[in-house]
Amino acid sequence: MTNDKLMAKTFYITTPIYYVNARPHIGHTYTTLACDAIARRQRMMGEDTYFLTGTDEHGQKIQRAAEAAGKTPQKFTDEVSAEFRVLWDRMGITYNDYIRTTSDRHKIGVQELWRRIRDNGYIYKGSYTGQYCVFDEMYVEVGPGEPCPECGRPTETVKEENYFFKLSAFAEPLLELYSHADLIRPETRRNEVIAFVRSGLRDLSISRSTFSWGIPVPDDPKHVIYVWLDALANYITALGYGSADSSKFEKYWPSDVHMIGKEIVRFHCVYWPAFLMAARLPLPKAIIAHGWLLFEESKMSKSRGNIVRTETILDVLGADALRYFLLREVVFGHDGSFSFDALVQRYNSDLANGLGNLASRTLAMITRYFKGEVPYPSQKAAHTGAEDLVAALAKHTISEFHELFQQYQFSRALEMAWALVAAIDKYIVENEPWALAEKQDEHSRARLATVLYTSAEALRIVTALAHPVIPEATAKIWTQLGLGDIAKVSLADLRWGQLPLGTKLGKVEPVFPRADKSAIERMQKMEEQQRPAEPDTTEVAQRATEAPPAAAGAGPNGASQGSAPLNKAAGVVPVAGADGKITIDDFAKVELRVAQVKVAERVKGADKLLRLEVDLGTETRQILAGIAEAYAPETLIGRKIVIVANLAPRKMRGLESNGMLLAASLEGGKPVLAGFLEDVPVGARLK
Ligand code: ME8
Ligand code: MG
Repeated sequence: MTNDKLMAKTFYITTPIYYVNARPHIGHTYTTLACDAIARRQRMMGEDTYFLTGTDEHGQKIQRAAEAAGKTPQKFTDEVSAEFRVLWDRMGITYNDYIRTTSDRHKIGVQELWRRIRDNGYIYKGSYTGQYCVFDEMYVEVGPGEPCPECGRPTETVKEENYFFKLSAFAEPLLELYSHADLIRPETRRNEVIAFVRSGLRDLSISRSTFSWGIPVPDDPKHVIYVWLDALANYITALGYGSADSSKFEKYWPSDVHMIGKEIVRFHCVYWPAFLMAARLPLPKAIIAHGWLLFEESKMSKSRGNIVRTETILDVLGADALRYFLLREVVFGHDGSFSFDALVQRYNSDLANGLGNLASRTLAMITRYFKGEVPYPSQKAAHTGAEDLVAALAKHTISEFHELFQQYQFSRALEMAWALVAAIDKYIVENEPWALAEKQDEHSRARLATVLYTSAEALRIVTALAHPVIPEATAKIWTQLGLGDIAKVSLADLRWGQLPLGTKLGKVEPVFPRADKSAIERMQKMEEQQRPAEPDTTEVAQRATEAPPAAAGAGPNGASQGSAPLNKAAGVVPVAGADGKITIDDFAKVELRVAQVKVAERVKGADKLLRLEVDLGTETRQILAGIAEAYAPETLIGRKIVIVANLAPRKMRGLESNGMLLAASLEGGKPVLAGFLEDVPVGARLK
């Protein structure tokens, strides 16, 4: 036997490293818990598993967020990075290492990677003039003043001497890589990447010299290394790449899975393999991009402010509830909506009433009827076809669950496992152990033993399968089954019939107490209380550099909720006179201004609504407008419109609208935006 065969197979899985410009939310938790479930399962399959997560702490976005918070970047990043880590620890995330890009071990490795790429001839000095999107930390190919094509936010003109990476040299090797390797999943993302590379690759600027929050370029410390090159390298620096001890790097690299959200596919599937090829290092085996968690119809993100904090759910329902919900409810790879209602409903139906109830009724009956010892099902006469059916379904579930999990189809895998839960429930109901227990004859007693043994064995199998997804509750059920430490179970060897006869059960206690209606309200309230206290530091920072902050539109919120802003033309203002006429002073209260549309996008799930970011000359505002049926979002970018600038903010679909645009609203027809025939400066007041 070779050494290789003696050693366990290794499995290396990573999450993205999260930006520390704002606190974690359940979007980050989603990726992390999916990786945790996979890592736990691989360990139970006997693989030598290494699970990495961490934080992305350099770059202009973070530097500005720190400035906005009035802290040094190091102090700021120390604090936010710790919040992520505390959350993962609270959730029992089984990461093996936590990498911070501000750590020395990371800096050493990044600089080593740079040198290798440089020494192999793929870095040259040039000068860059173009647009940069600070939000995405990305160079974009648009003209000055044009918005970012990815996120629609204003871009900034960068004119610097930089180092360039010869990305253009890698188009062919990359296409070759995508063509035969099962590198990018799902298929839709793979196709996107191929189309992107086919459309042509330009060399990439990989250093910046106009700010300092980053890792210095080797031998030219005026420059800092581009934050995405810095960040992507975490996957190898964490393993000791470039350090004196590269044993982990040799053992675990290349990675088996880089798990990411779909918005950062290009960085992972184009830039990262190209950097590695340039350094002549092995390439990752798989990059898996999942979809977005949506909240109130749009992507949950710190910049939109529509986030849900993980802590709220942990406080009320616990980590298992969130883990199960997200993996069961969201079809992996697709976007999925989060709502407290759906969370509580799933929790009650599948966990409290489903697995939880099955465990407590089965174990309680064994405790009551057999003094807490797993009974012998050995009497032939006591065996019916029903037991064979349960056993056959359990065996089928073991193999299907495995297949589906391997393909990252968590929701279908869990659906399978819960079909087994339902089948055991049905089996118990049909065989009425409580009625058998009333009778004292030998046959009934043997039947009772068989029914409870069969139920307990099937419960054991579901529990073992579900452990990577709901580790806390399954560990408790395992102990109640009298089986010890569930993490030591070998899933590769899981078979029907392994529950030792005569096993002494532990103390039986409910694992998932039912959640009542107040759980939803409690969580909603906790989130409401958090929201205003947590402004988005990035956007504040971005705005701060663009213009002095304008006075907030104060005053009571008199605007009605929910109706499209369009139906309220300028005439609908508080009326003074009894005759319905207003004075010039009344009209002067309405601040009408020229604004320019910078960002326009649809609001998911709201057919009529567009979300706009408009430039008022002194500030950028978010406005929601019911014009989606009349105007395609992309046709609005750059257009000058008229808005009521001093309207009290109001919420629609969970998003705040700060102002309202003017349009002619035609009975039964489409709205027509107000505009000008001559050019007008942005911000000009209409009176
Ligand atoms: O992009 N739904 O960091 P980030 C699902 N630092 N997943 C979500 C999500 C949502 N609404 N919101 C966030 C960065 N995520 C870079 C990565 S890696 C070398 C550098 C998850 O803080 C998802 O995994 O913006 C997404 O890709 C990641 O958080 C982005 O986190
Ligand atoms: Mg992001």
